[in-house]
Formats: sequence, structure tokens, C-alpha cells
Amino acid sequence: VSAGGWAWGLAGAAAGLAAFAAARWLVLRRELANLAARLDEMGLGGRLDLRLPPSAEPSLSRITESANALVRRLAAQMEELAAGRARLQAVLDTMAEGILVLDAQGRIVTANPAAERLLGAPSLAAGVPLQAVARLPRLQEVAREAEHRAASAELETAGDPPRWLRVRAAPLGAAAAPGRVLAVLADVTDFKRLDQIRRDFIANASHELKTPLAAIRGYAEVLADETGTEESRVILRHAERLSRLVEDLLTLSRLESRSLDVRPTVLDVAAVAERAFALIRPLADARRVSLVSSVAAGTKARADEESLLRILLNLLDNAVKWSPEGGRVEILSAPAEAGIAVSVRDRGPGIAPEHLPRLFERFYRVDKARSRELGGTGLGLAIVKHLAELNGGEAFVRSRPGEGTEAGVRLPAAT
Ligand SMILES: Nc1ncnc2c1ncn2[C@@H]1O[C@H](COP(=O)(O)OP(=O)(O)OP(=O)(O)O)[C@@H](O)[C@H]1O
Ligand SMILES: [Mg+2]
Repeated sequence: VSAGGWAWGLAGAAAGLAAFAAARWLVLRRELANLAARLDEMGLGGRLDLRLPPSAEPSLSRITESANALVRRLAAQMEELAAGRARLQAVLDTMAEGILVLDAQGRIVTANPAAERLLGAPSLAAGVPLQAVARLPRLQEVAREAEHRAASAELETAGDPPRWLRVRAAPLGAAAAPGRVLAVLADVTDFKRLDQIRRDFIANASHELKTPLAAIRGYAEVLADETGTEESRVILRHAERLSRLVEDLLTLSRLESRSLDVRPTVLDVAAVAERAFALIRPLADARRVSLVSSVAAGTKARADEESLLRILLNLLDNAVKWSPEGGRVEILSAPAEAGIAVSVRDRGPGIAPEHLPRLFERFYRVDKARSRELGGTGLGLAIVKHLAELNGGEAFVRSRPGEGTEAGVRLPAAT
């Protein structure tokens, strides 16, 4: 074979190869175009049920298999997500509490059927401003406050009959959508009504008991004076205890219904402490307990004078009752957060820590037998707490068994 023959042969082979490569390139291009179209359908069209067809080309087939695996996983995750959403929706739909999500502009993002029912709004569609569907200014206020911190309120709806709702709202804390607020609404109408019935009952019963008790007390006094018998003195003692109890119950119900007149003024704490001492002195003398005021001259608080007097009398009554014979009871004052603390300290038996959280509940007594013996019904500290709150303050107690007790109130400063 000549050299020219070789050359021709090589050229022919090269041409054949080129033709083959070109044909293969065309096939691959068509396959790639098909794959791209299918991927569009899956990705852009959301058809996660479709798969890429297998390819005879090894490198392509690896890509299609990986892509198919990816899509399978994506589809499984989407399904899980959808199931979770459906579960959440079912919970939201069947909840008794109303759920509202509002955006920073006060427009509804989500509302469940209970929210629609409680607010008396036929439909709370997404995007609608809440105020357009529910005319409850207090609800808007709470929602606005909840953009920054948790807030709650009780409000009356305008429906017929009106219902009471308790709203608790808090920032949703979604970084992607700042200013969103989650509000939970609960119907507390029945609770409110029962509470009112209970209050009315206590108020009416104590009121009805007052007159007959006064008569019993009066006649028992006459009887005790005239006959001096032990029996008549027992009747008198118990009649007096009963009327104290009735008085306390009446005071508490007036405090709860806020029908007690409270007129805060700037008070000289030392002067009120002296008034309280004068009233409690007979009891203190009988138990040889000394009364000491450590209130600095010129100490001022902002409170209603009769309220502070009643607070101190209740605290002094406890301190004297629980002091040992010959003990010492002291009224103290100290600057407190945004105001002033006025307290009464004794060196009595003290109170175990487990009782402290419940001490201000009505009828709560640590040692029932001992308290009753001392004539207590467990209403004194409940009254103190209510009075403190009505005056914009709060009650507190510190105590250590064996060391004594300090109970008092924090009141707003006199500005
Ligand atoms: N200074 C104190 N030292 C020890 N225990 C106290 C003191 N103050 C209150 N307690 C305990 O707390 C309970 C509740 O006090 P609270 O003043 O409410 O009721 P009370 O004194 O028993 O009755 P009331 O004040 O209605 O006459 C008391 O029964 C007592 O067990
Ligand atoms: Mg008491």
C-alpha cells in the first residue's frame, strides 16, 4: 500500500468518526432538550410526580438518577409539610379559643372559625383590617401593645347578648414578617357570671347578717353586764367575732366590686402610723407588746388615708397577735421601686416558706386551730392585698420561721 493510500484511508476514517460524533451530538442535544423540558414541567410546573426518563448515555443517566432521587425526597418532604399543615388546620378549626394572627398594619393574616364566632364577624378574610370587621377598640390596643410585649385584657363584645372575652396577645417573633401578633381569644362570660353570683351572694348574706348580729351583740352585752355569767360572756365573745367576720366579708366584697371610695392624697406616713397605734394599743397593752415607729419624719406616700389606716391595722393586729408576750412590733418605711414600702415587723414564730405564696388568699390560715383561737378568720391579709392594689400598689410579706415576720405594702411615691 502506498503512502498515499494510507493517507486516504486515514482521512476516510477521520471523516467517518466526525460523522459519527456529529450524529451522537445531535442525539445528545435532543435528549438534553427533552430533559430540560421535563425538568421545567417538574420544577416550574410543580409536577413532583414526574420523573426523568433513563438515558443510554452513562454520564447523562447519572444526572437523571440523581435528579430523580432529589425530586423523590422533595416530594416526600412536601407531603409531610402538607400533612402537618392539615393537622394544624384541623386543630385551629376545632379549637374553642379564637386564634388571630395580625400583621404590623393590623390586617388579618389568619383567623380560625372560633375567632369569627367570638368576634361576631361572619368572615375574617386575610388582608382585611381587623378594625373593619370587629369594632373593639380595646382589642386593637392590646394587639398594638403586643407588637412589643405580651399583653392581655378582658373586653365586652357588642353582640346581643354581649359576651366577655379574655384576650392574650404576644409578638409572633417571625424574623421574616416583623410586627406580626398572635392573639388568643377565650370566652369567659360564664366564668364572669358565676363570679358575680358568688360575690353577690357573699355581699347579700353578710348584709342580711349584720342587723340580727348587732341585736344579739347588744343584748349579750346587757346580759353580761347584768348577770356577769360565763355563759353570757361566751355569747358576747362569739357574737363579736361573728360581727367582725361579717364586717370583713362586707369590706372584701366592696373592695372586689370596687365600690369602696378610694381617694389617694399625699400622706404623712408617720401620722397615719400614730393613728393606727392609738387604735391597736389596747390589744398591744393586753399582751404587753410594745409598739415602735421607725418611720422617718416627713416620709410621704400617695394613698387613700383610710386605706392605709386599714392596711396598718390589719398588719398590726397580726403582728401583735403572733408576738410573744412582752414582744416588740415595729412600723418601718423604706424607698421601694417607684414608691415607698411601709411594713410591720414582729419577732413572732414566723411563717414557713411554703405558706407564703397563699397567705393573701381569703380564708387562708397557716395554723387553723391557733388562728381561730386568736379570733382570726383569714380575711385580714386578703383585705390588705385588695386595698394595696386599689391604691396602685402591692402587698408583700417576708418571713423566716423562728425569726419573725415583716408584712407590708409598696405604695406609689408622692410626686
Ligand atoms: N405576723 C404574723 N406572724 C405569723 N403568722 C402570721 C402573721 N401574719 C399572718 N400570719 C398567718 O397568716 C394567716 C392569714 O392572716 P390574716 O390576717 O389574713 O388572717 P387572720 O389574722 O387569721 O384573720 P383575720 O385577719 O381575718 O382576723 C394567719 O392565720 C396566720 O396563720
Ligand atoms: Mg389578720
